[in-house]
Amino acid sequence: MTLIELRGVTKTFAGRVETVTPIEDLDFTVGAGEFVSLMGPSGSGKTTLLHLLAGIDRPTKGSVRVGDAEITGLSASALASWRARAVGYVFQQYNLIPVLTAFENVEVPLLLLRMSRSEREQRIGTALAAVGLTDRAHHLPRQLSGGQQQRVAIARAIVADPVVVLADEPTGNLDRTAARATLELLRRLVDEFGKTLVMVTHDHEAAARADRVVELDKGRIVGANAATTSEVDEHA
Ligand SMILES: Nc1ncnc2c1ncn2[C@@H]1O[C@H](COP(=O)(O)OP(=O)(O)OP(=O)(O)O)[C@@H](O)[C@H]1O
Ligand SMILES: [Mg+2]
Repeated sequence: MTLIELRGVTKTFAGRVETVTPIEDLDFTVGAGEFVSLMGPSGSGKTTLLHLLAGIDRPTKGSVRVGDAEITGLSASALASWRARAVGYVFQQYNLIPVLTAFENVEVPLLLLRMSRSEREQRIGTALAAVGLTDRAHHLPRQLSGGQQQRVAIARAIVADPVVVLADEPTGNLDRTAARATLELLRRLVDEFGKTLVMVTHDHEAAARADRVVELDKGRIVGANAATTSEVDEHA
C-alpha cells in the first residue's frame, strides 16, 4: 500500500534577485512501512523534499498525499494539526530546547494534542524507554552526549505515534558508534513499530540500512535501487 504520494511536484522559491527551483516535476511514492534513504549532492533538494512531505512547505505545483490527507488542500490550521498527529521530524542538529529536560523536550509535541497529563506521562515514558534513555529523563541536553541528544530527538519525533517519521541527516553529527546505534534505532522504528521512514543522508553505510535508496540531483530522481514501492507491496 502506498502511504506517501507526490505527483508532479514543483517547488519554487521566488527571491528578489533570482528564482530557485529545488524540486521540479517530481513523482515520488513511499509504501506504508517502508524505509527509504534519500541521497544526493548538497543543494539537490533533499531538505526541501522532506519539508514538502511534512507539510512545512507547500508545493508551488502538484499534489502531496500522505495517507488519507491531501496536504496541498488543507488550511494552515488543519495542516498544523495534521502535522502534529501524523509526522515526526528528526533534525541533524537535534533541535532540543536547552532549558528543558529530556522528559520535557519529548513532551513538547504532545502539548499540541488534547491529552490528559497521565496519558502524556505514560507516552513520554514509553518513548524514552524505546530509545533507551529512561535513566536520563531528567537531564538537560547539555548533560547528554550527542548520541543521547539525538535519541531524545527521536523519542520526541515518535511520542505522538505518527505514521511517518522524517529524518534529515540524523547521523551527520555523530561518531561511528553513535551513528550505528541511531541507525539501529531507526531501523527498529520500521521493523517493530511499523513506522514509515524517509531519511536523508550523505553516508552510504547509513543509506544501506534502508529498504530502498533514492538519489536526487537538481530536484529530480536520478536513480533508485533495491525494491521499488510496488515490489515492496507484493511482499507486504
Ligand atoms: N526557503 C528557501 N528560500 C530560498 N531558497 C531556498 C529555500 N530553501 C531552500 N532553498 C534553495 O533550494 C536549494 C535546495 O536546498 P535544500 O536545502 O533542499 O538542499 P539539500 O539537498 O538539503 O542540501 P544539503 O545536503 O546541503 O542539506 C538550494 O539552492 C537552496 O538554497
Ligand atoms: Mg539539507
